[in-house]
Amino acid sequence: MTDIKELLFSRIRDVADYPEPGVMFKDITPLLADPAAFTALTDALAEIAGRTGATKVVGLEARGFILGAPVAVRAGLGFIPVRKAGKLPGATLAQAYDLEYGSAEIEVHAEDLSSDDRILIIDDVLATGGTAEASIQLIRRAGAQVAGLAVLMELGFLSGRARLEPALAGAPLEALLVV
Ligand code: PRP
Ligand code: MG
Repeated sequence: MTDIKELLFSRIRDVADYPEPGVMFKDITPLLADPAAFTALTDALAEIAGRTGATKVVGLEARGFILGAPVAVRAGLGFIPVRKAGKLPGATLAQAYDLEYGSAEIEVHAEDLSSDDRILIIDDVLATGGTAEASIQLIRRAGAQVAGLAVLMELGFLSGRARLEPALAGAPLEALLVV
């Protein structure tokens, strides 16, 4: 592991049995509270934005907002929030996706995306891939291209990467840490 990866890894707190028994929650708040770690994370994600030729950053509510917004500023790109349903006031595109129990829906302001855009999607954790898959579908339906998906942490045992392969269609999935 590189020094940066070790730093990031050391600032993620495992919380057992949250939000329900049997789940090990990955808490990124210690990382956010450490300016050296948060800066290193922002720089690493901004490098991916540059390398993938992204023109805008999409952050996935809520933790993707915290990570994605400083990356957009650092990379000199615009930031677009993909929100949970019912939070955006303008004309939206919506995409439903399945959760373990039930379903959820995310939305984006349709006017924020155009066919000229190459989007880097940013989130904190890739678990089953359901949230990321829905965001890719949303961006494609809006006519924009997906430059890639970048996450702080991939939970490899949940096989989200394999699930996302068809949707990504060759666009890179970059995980700074894989657990
Ligand atoms: C969490 C996490 C990812 C998503 C990953 O978000 O931040 O966005 O789950 O899960 P998946 O790959 O199985 O879709 P969540 O909506 O639980 O909480 P948040 O609003 O705090 O980001
Ligand atoms: Mg989230």
